[in-house]
Amino acid sequence: MERLTVELGERSYPLHVGRGLTGEIRKAVETEAAADRKGAVLVDAGFAAAQPDFLETIFGALPRLEIPSGEGSKSFAELERCCDFLGATGIPRDGFLFVVGGGVTGDLGGFAAATWLRGIRFYQVPTTLLAMVDSSVGGKTGLNIEAGKNLVGAFHQPRAVFADAAVLDSLPDREFAAGMAEVIKHGLLGDAELFRQLEEGPRLQSDSEDLPVVLRRNCALKAAVVRADEREQSAAGGRALLNLGHTFGHAIEAVAGYGAYLHGEAVAVGLLLATQLSERMNLLPSGSHQRVGKLLRRYDLPVRLRSPLPVEELLAASRRDKKVRAGMLRYVLLEAFGKAVVVGNIEEAIVRGLWEEAGASR
Ligand SMILES: NC(=O)c1ccc[n+]([C@@H]2O[C@H](COP(=O)([O-])OP(=O)(O)OC[C@H]3O[C@@H](n4cnc5c(N)ncnc54)[C@H](O)[C@@H]3O)[C@@H](O)[C@H]2O)c1
Repeated sequence: MERLTVELGERSYPLHVGRGLTGEIRKAVETEAAADRKGAVLVDAGFAAAQPDFLETIFGALPRLEIPSGEGSKSFAELERCCDFLGATGIPRDGFLFVVGGGVTGDLGGFAAATWLRGIRFYQVPTTLLAMVDSSVGGKTGLNIEAGKNLVGAFHQPRAVFADAAVLDSLPDREFAAGMAEVIKHGLLGDAELFRQLEEGPRLQSDSEDLPVVLRRNCALKAAVVRADEREQSAAGGRALLNLGHTFGHAIEAVAGYGAYLHGEAVAVGLLLATQLSERMNLLPSGSHQRVGKLLRRYDLPVRLRSPLPVEELLAASRRDKKVRAGMLRYVLLEAFGKAVVVGNIEEAIVRGLWEEAGASR
């Protein structure tokens, strides 16, 4: 097991990364109990069904609420159910919450922890690859509303994160692959050595010997970016660089209808498009996207639209993306593998051409 730290002054917290962390998590529960604090657990229903023993071993008799699987749970209705549960359980201001699941449960549970009694202690136990390398670290929590995804939320940092590769043994292959898109993204935007390792090493799966090392590199990168720009305010990039591929990816999700692509699948197409756009802007040598495409395909991730989507709708969705600042469409691009930059003022015609090459219809 390795222990990293997200350095945020008095809100700093450890990231425990490895395989077989039940003892560590159990210890955290016992420490809370020894301090006479009252706690509860929110858990993704899919994970609860897949690995009941994990929950039993660690949490025993702590009150537990299952969160239905799926994006629909990031809603006010589900938040209300969580708060009713916390109320019925009698979790006080100095109580604690363990949030066990993928990014959906993490975002909802984190927001419940941020808002219950104006904020209580909470722990993240991510159970998807995406949640381990991305959503559980950094304190972004939130819900979706009619107007868009993640529009309601709060920054609320956890007390600790436990990324245990063993919980991924039951994760469906397609979900694992979607998480790999974020891993590849991290290599591209900030860790060229990681990218090379992914290209040259064996294809990763949940029980790969190399997986904990890859998890650690990803968590270290995310921790460094969050430390430098906790609230995504940096003008020079900072947390916004984590959106590499996302302006394209969000557009695909919005136009195809949420659920048609897993988030990581849409990001995969977006990563290829961002690399191609970097080439068009003369930031990367032409042909660079072939390396990206090859690695994405290695994980059975899509590199173009599965079926045509109207290009005008894709462009309109990008204009609505909440990362637009002062009306200017900004894309995260690559200056090199391992070095991302935010670029504004990109001619829409270039982007339109790339969408069409990726299978968008006029
Ligand atoms: N807060 C952030 O910084 C941040 C960053 C990226 C993404 N997100 C959010 O994360 C969400 C996506 O999260 P996700 O990809 O983890 O999906 P998810 O939470 O929907 O989980 C995917 C599926 O896997 C199942 N599952 C989870 N763990 C399992 C396990 N170990 N074994 C078997 N089944 C398991 C779940 O039941 C679900 O059906 C989105 O809502 C996105 O907005 C947040």
